[in-house]
Amino acid sequence: AVPKAVPLQEEEDEFEVASGKTRVTIFYGTQTGTAEGFAKALAEEIKARYEKAVVKVIDLDDYAPEDDKYGEKLKKETMAFFMLATYGDGEPTDNAARFYKWFTEGTDRGVWLEQLRYGVFGLGNRQYEHFNKIGKVVDELLNEQGAKRLVTVGLGDDDQCIEDDFSAWREALWPELDQLLQDDTNNVSTPYTAVIPEYRIVIHDPSITSYEDHYSNMANGNASFDIHHPCRVNVAVQKELHKPASDRSCIHLEFDVHATGITYETGDHVGVYADNCDDTVEEAAKLLGQPLDLLFSIHTDNNDGTSLGSSLPPPFPGPCTLKTALARYADLLNPPRKAALIALAAHAVEPSEAERLKFLSSPQGKDEYSKWVVGSQRSLLEVMAEFPSAKPPLGVFFAAVAPRLQPRYYSISSSPRFAPHRVHVTCALVYGPTPTGRIHKGVSSFWMKNAVPLEKSQNCSWAPIFIRQSNFKLPADHSVPIVMVGPGTGLAPFRGFLQERLALKEEGAQLGPALLFFGCRNRQMDFIYEDELNNFVQQGALSELIVAFSREGPSKEYVQHKMMERAAYMWNLISQGGYFYVCGDAKGMARDVHRTLHTIVQQEEKVDSSKAESIVKKLQMDGRYLRDVW
Ligand code: 2AM
Repeated sequence: AVPKAVPLQEEEDEFEVASGKTRVTIFYGTQTGTAEGFAKALAEEIKARYEKAVVKVIDLDDYAPEDDKYGEKLKKETMAFFMLATYGDGEPTDNAARFYKWFTEGTDRGVWLEQLRYGVFGLGNRQYEHFNKIGKVVDELLNEQGAKRLVTVGLGDDDQCIEDDFSAWREALWPELDQLLQDDTNNVSTPYTAVIPEYRIVIHDPSITSYEDHYSNMANGNASFDIHHPCRVNVAVQKELHKPASDRSCIHLEFDVHATGITYETGDHVGVYADNCDDTVEEAAKLLGQPLDLLFSIHTDNNDGTSLGSSLPPPFPGPCTLKTALARYADLLNPPRKAALIALAAHAVEPSEAERLKFLSSPQGKDEYSKWVVGSQRSLLEVMAEFPSAKPPLGVFFAAVAPRLQPRYYSISSSPRFAPHRVHVTCALVYGPTPTGRIHKGVSSFWMKNAVPLEKSQNCSWAPIFIRQSNFKLPADHSVPIVMVGPGTGLAPFRGFLQERLALKEEGAQLGPALLFFGCRNRQMDFIYEDELNNFVQQGALSELIVAFSREGPSKEYVQHKMMERAAYMWNLISQGGYFYVCGDAKGMARDVHRTLHTIVQQEEKVDSSKAESIVKKLQMDGRYLRDVW
């Protein structure tokens, strides 16, 4: 018999709270930091409202080292909240993936969570097909397994104002918590006012403290890199992929990962931390009224050693100059959250500015916030420029006004078999006017557009990067047919697939047929990697390249139209056991392609719509219909 594991004392103790207190656990599944921020804000507010509550905020990945521990630990929770983002193709965030798999796939646990009261707030975007899938599924399953729902699942919609959705969800929660957590002795609840988080800042004398580059310290030699431990790599190659006739831009970039320890597989993603451009950084420093060369560090403790509120985002390494801090760590171009407006209001010297900022962040100012901030895509800097008397100190700015600049993810457009020391990226430039007349330049794509490669200068551009694994992979059996659909930069992972197939072929592998549907506007403008694609056909890595040009003829031709033209052949390949891959825009293209696949199945199998749907579902369940969409 297997001896029963004796739980460690620490693990037991973790759940023990002083008598009269209630443990409240707040879990988050976050990709860009919003869910984490909400989790921390909820924790602060519960602590401030209820003396009884002992609140813990936990990253779902950190909760249990092994899957079976999830069950053991959850069984001991009595009150838990889940802040769960859904991203991409209805998937959980990376840090929630293991928990989600365990929770949803564990069959028939019965009713085992009766001791638990819970609430779920989901973060999603209504534009996507699987709106808030993760939050909905977890909410439903918790309930099925006996846990008691304290509040209806919150469906945060990032397409509108997710902060308002979060506020509304919390408002529904308080009456429930008042009953459970309010002090019996003191039934008069004191009104709650939000505290504005602030870091402690230390200014350093530039002559005595030399500025160090922290990424170069933690980069090479680190065992594995991830979102919290990226690796500094140089840009080896950078070139424009669009032809001169195009008025848009698409960049091919190669990161040199030689001798870094970074490895990847075809189909993986790369996370890139790009810097804000100089103009943006200078503008921000001016608005803050501080010099760019100011050397400072930020701290999460008070001078007396006590800790500041846990709602703060993690601090960045210092000392560093204001220039570096603004370039690397501050999200300056997204519209400010309401919490940022509240913090700005608290520091506006001009009373009329303070009033207007307070109004914009208040429930009464909801419509105005939607219109003036979100609708007109006003960046944080634009908003700050409109309120020049609001110059928050740096400790407030980095804690409450500017969110942390997030990495951007790209589908890697190379194969390690072909380019073992390089990670290729194919990136369309995000550039265009906003309703206020500002020209919005996407932080990362603009950085790539301006990147200087090692080919051209020893003083080349570099960025902290890390690899994110994906399940977007070629079939293990190379003789299985594949059908790929990837218009625009959706081509990226397929370029990697084709490089891989070419390498396999050269090693003597027998390749199955491969069909690629690519789409662009015009052959003379944005037919990216045209020569390479033709070469893949000539070399036999690709059986057929089918291109839809959307702006050449009198009517739009899209990849899905080309799919219809080739319906019989395409379905023949897939129904023989082939794989179907889609990469690119989720809201328009991938949705339309999905419908087209459904139509093709109906037509070719001569079945009704619901039967066709179950065939497509089965393909997905079998892992033969894979999507890499954004
Ligand atoms: P358009 O810009 O002319 O509308 C790559 O971006 C290609 O995808 C372009 O040719 C673009 O066409 C096309 N595209 C835009 N929306 C699409 C959709 N819903 N389905 C398929 N292709 C689409």
